[in-house]
Amino acid sequence: METDKVIILDYGSQYTQLIARRIREAGVYSEIHPCTITSEELKALKPQALILSGGPASVTNHEAPALDPQVLDWGLPILGICYGMQLLAHICGGEVVPAQDREYGRAELFITEDCALWEGLVVKEGIKVWMSHGDKVLAPPPGFIVLARTNRVDVAAMADPARKIYALQFHPEVAHTEDGDQILRNFLFRIADLNPNWNMSSFLEEHLARLREEIGENEQVICALSGGVDSTVVAVMLHKAIGHRLHCVLVDNGLLRLGEGEEIVAYLRQHFDLNLHFVQAQDLFLSRLKGVEDPEKKRKIIGHTFIEVFEQEAKALTGIKYLAQGTLYPDVIESISFKGPSAVIKSHHNVGGLPEKMDLALIEPLRELFKDEVRKVAVELGLPDFIVWRHPFPGPALAIRILGEVTQERLNILQQADKIVHNELMASGWYYKVWQGFAVLLPLKTVGVMGDERTYEHVIALRIVDSIDAMTADWTRVPSEILALISNRIINEVKGVNRVVLDISSKPPSTIEWE
Ligand code: XMP
Repeated sequence: METDKVIILDYGSQYTQLIARRIREAGVYSEIHPCTITSEELKALKPQALILSGGPASVTNHEAPALDPQVLDWGLPILGICYGMQLLAHICGGEVVPAQDREYGRAELFITEDCALWEGLVVKEGIKVWMSHGDKVLAPPPGFIVLARTNRVDVAAMADPARKIYALQFHPEVAHTEDGDQILRNFLFRIADLNPNWNMSSFLEEHLARLREEIGENEQVICALSGGVDSTVVAVMLHKAIGHRLHCVLVDNGLLRLGEGEEIVAYLRQHFDLNLHFVQAQDLFLSRLKGVEDPEKKRKIIGHTFIEVFEQEAKALTGIKYLAQGTLYPDVIESISFKGPSAVIKSHHNVGGLPEKMDLALIEPLRELFKDEVRKVAVELGLPDFIVWRHPFPGPALAIRILGEVTQERLNILQQADKIVHNELMASGWYYKVWQGFAVLLPLKTVGVMGDERTYEHVIALRIVDSIDAMTADWTRVPSEILALISNRIINEVKGVNRVVLDISSKPPSTIEWE
């Protein structure tokens, strides 16, 4: 059976990715495309339903992003959200006006007309919903009925049920909207009549076959392993698809967690017959980092040195045609999304520049997946918890957790402290509950006392955070007994540390890493 597909047209909302994630969580495959796509291109994607996202523009502006009205005649079920609703109202002949003031935040929704969208809602009166809009629909287009109102807008939801066109002024994809998931599911399953047939075992089956076809019978592929879940999944998938024609390279830059490189290599060698090159390049990286304090410079040096070492490995192998990378869907969305003039692009380039430099074609088997889906694929592949649920680890590794210059002595201190944090979080069960937990070495020394001796030694900061996607984060309220144990162990066991502090800042305005 073909997988059903919902296309989300992105009109620039900060929540567009969330819509895609919610739909996939409901078991339906969804893809985001910019609103500038032509109707021919849209048709070629063969969607079973269409969602128009929110966005910052006003339909009353003649340059505002639009939708070809013909699309409404295709018989596709359509859901417009926020700007998407105003756009539908505008195209179909309703009246959209600028609201007196922007409405942002919680509002109460009152259902005025029963319909499929509202089926199975727990609350029927005064549903808490999340609003974020400037314009509002004053009068619905001919043929549309009003489905709900709030105290500030009379048309908070509307529909033309005969044409299966629905529209919401609020955001059902945002967690603050009560029963938002149920509303989206009602659209998917009661209105659009879709099948929840998107799951990771069918993904694997389809993509392993696709990889074999794409790569062919004879070509060789190289893949950089970092020890993280993404690159490990890429390697294991490719190994299953093409066996020994995959060559994996794991570069030990000396900046990894204590024993981490060895651990992942041992696991992969034991469980998969991978072609695995474990390159020892610690001295090279450390010598290049000597005397460098600026975090951006450290990142660049590490990035360039990695490319150099990787290239050398690749040269030793003949006939490599492809480079496999663990690019995920959020990176793809970032590159195609509809951006306003003030959009800020944030990205971490870890292996950037490799394919162009090495003249290799790219293979990106995970480019359709969100992180939680990659973890599900990892489970399908039989990978163990310590890989599936491994905390994110930055490409520049411990170098950005040692503030200031990276030296062998500082690295030794941080690796040992980090190991203690890791082990105690594991032992207490907190490792799998938090997003990330790690130690940071501060470039300063403070006074302490040990026995009768005055000491003057390093400070370790503990950073343990909860997060959904690293965009925002809050410090985890780890029980004080566990913090006490970690602190005692670090101070007693790690030579060169006499003080441990806890980072109690949230992101924003702080970040997760200290750099
Ligand atoms: P920040 O510090 O920006 O981190 O709040 C957000 C998430 O990204 C990770 N991070 C990086 N990952 N290369 C990476 O691959 C990097 O240069 C980098 N810097 C931060 C960080 O660990 C957190 O999960």
